[in-house]
Amino acid sequence: MALLIGCKKIKTAVFISGNGSNLKALIKFSKLKKSPISINLIISNNAKSKGLNYSSIYKIKKKIFDFENKNLAEKKILRELKKEKINLICLAGFMKILSEKFIKNFKGKILNIHPSLLPKFKGLNTHRRAIKNKEIYSGCTVHFVNSKLDSGKIILQKKVKILKNETPKSLSKKILVQEHKLYPKAIIKIFRH
Ligand code: GAR
Repeated sequence: MALLIGCKKIKTAVFISGNGSNLKALIKFSKLKKSPISINLIISNNAKSKGLNYSSIYKIKKKIFDFENKNLAEKKILRELKKEKINLICLAGFMKILSEKFIKNFKGKILNIHPSLLPKFKGLNTHRRAIKNKEIYSGCTVHFVNSKLDSGKIILQKKVKILKNETPKSLSKKILVQEHKLYPKAIIKIFRH
């Protein structure tokens, strides 16, 4: 029975570039009965991503694609996603911008987590910019991916207070803890019905 339920889960690929702490949180979540997704593929643009280690730890297929030639990389990725019958993509610290063409192929089926309260601080160096801007709060956002950077429909956000003497490093640490909870919650929210 458990196996049968497992089969019905939405086959998901997680795209990473670095540490993969969000990937780990998503894998742990995917193993819960209440999870609507299974993680079937890990994709990275960076062979040195620490997060790729979760492939052997959790026995999940991994593939690395060189984005030097983005067009070719995306074509190969699409082929792989088809082969594995992937139905959902979770970007989790994936630091490459996907083309409009790629996104169209997975319309409404790509999610991203971003370490700010969007629409504030799209792009890079979010924590440094939030502190410099003297924001009282920052946080994280899970959103659908569209062709404009960090601009798709917001699914869920979590606020985090910026304390006096906060550094980009301390803020990043606090926000990451929240990211690990927010991504699974956002996935539950979109597949609730
Ligand atoms: C996370 O904070 C994620 O929100 C951010 O990179 C970090 C990856 O950490 N993503 C972006 O900045 C995307 N623009 P992780 O590799 O430990 O999950």
